[in-house]
Amino acid sequence: MRDPAIDICVIGAGGIVNDAHLPAYRIAGFNVKGIVDRDNRRARALAEKFAIPEVYDSLGAMVAGQDGNVIYDCALPASEIVEVLRQLPDEATVLIQKPLGESIEEARIIQETVHSKKMLAGVNFQLRFAPFVLEAKKMIRGGQLGTLTDIEVYVNVHTPWNLWSFLFEKPRMEINYHSVHYIDLIRSFLGNPSRVYARTFKHPDSLQLASVKSTIIMDYDDYIRAAIHTNHHHHFGYHHQGAYIKIEGTKGAIKMSMGVLIDYPNGIPDTFDYITIVPGAAPEWKSKPIEGSWFPHAFIGTMEQMILAKKGIIEQPENSIDDAVDTMRCVEAAYISSGQGGVSLSSIA
Ligand SMILES: NC(=O)c1ccc[n+]([C@@H]2O[C@H](COP(=O)([O-])OP(=O)(O)OC[C@H]3O[C@@H](n4cnc5c(N)ncnc54)[C@H](O)[C@@H]3O)[C@@H](O)[C@H]2O)c1
Repeated sequence: MRDPAIDICVIGAGGIVNDAHLPAYRIAGFNVKGIVDRDNRRARALAEKFAIPEVYDSLGAMVAGQDGNVIYDCALPASEIVEVLRQLPDEATVLIQKPLGESIEEARIIQETVHSKKMLAGVNFQLRFAPFVLEAKKMIRGGQLGTLTDIEVYVNVHTPWNLWSFLFEKPRMEINYHSVHYIDLIRSFLGNPSRVYARTFKHPDSLQLASVKSTIIMDYDDYIRAAIHTNHHHHFGYHHQGAYIKIEGTKGAIKMSMGVLIDYPNGIPDTFDYITIVPGAAPEWKSKPIEGSWFPHAFIGTMEQMILAKKGIIEQPENSIDDAVDTMRCVEAAYISSGQGGVSLSSIA
């Protein structure tokens, strides 16, 4: 969706902006007008790499240089978001990087800040806009899977957490920073679960990280199993590494691999396989080539929603702040469940 009429101003010139935001906007033809970072050298480097016309010395200078036709793209650590929002004009349009704070309380503070300033705000939970996810949704809308019965997210990889040094101080890690994507994804297919069960785990070699593995069940009803299994500490080579989303319905199934998570950040190609039951025929898995991947293409979707909402073409972005708070409520439920634990065996005679 080419739209030079709306400017994007990026706040934060870190890894994710370099790896995903700016490559995605370049592919989509979005108009990035300016960038600012506390570390001006980082902003200048990205401006040069991606031909961004303006590098601002401060957030104030960035705001002063805009008319109303701008979307502020905040790609900052969660701890910085509220203060930055307070410095943006009332009624501004803002896309906020995930996670939405470190807890539901922090998510609510961000949400209240946005509402009190009458902002149009969305959150960058972008996996739901990955090209393979959009294709799966198209097939589901077309009835090819029948009624959904099962969504499984499986991740067994060796993630180089040292790329994000800020994570080492966080009281919550794996679910808030990684599985949050899958929670948001499952919500985008099935809505809010009625309950969440979870257990998040440490690894003896990564004791500085709050947790690096999780199992989460999002409970809908007796007929739908929605489960997330992540292990980021599979340090046994690539042979058995894997990352996929599998969706099953009464009439068909889809299995899509997320190649970006293998050998991160190098990645390997994704795959998209599907099967539909044809009465009288032997079931047969087929493959579909899908153009684009999670990184960077899914980042087009979150910004496109903001552009459409800003133009009044849609009432709210699909990734609106209020929808994102529901994802954070699930995250909170997962940590509470993990803290409470399951049924103690000693309670069973
Ligand atoms: N959506 C995703 O898939 C995804 C992936 C990776 C990271 N992230 C999130 O994106 C955010 C940034 O991650 P990153 O890897 O780019 O981090 P980073 O540390 O590489 O970059 C953050 C940048 O923000 C700048 N900054 C910090 N506070 C600022 C402020 N108040 N004003 C201006 N600049 C400021 C820093 O100088 C730094 O350049 C994090 O919240 C992270 O969780 C999201």
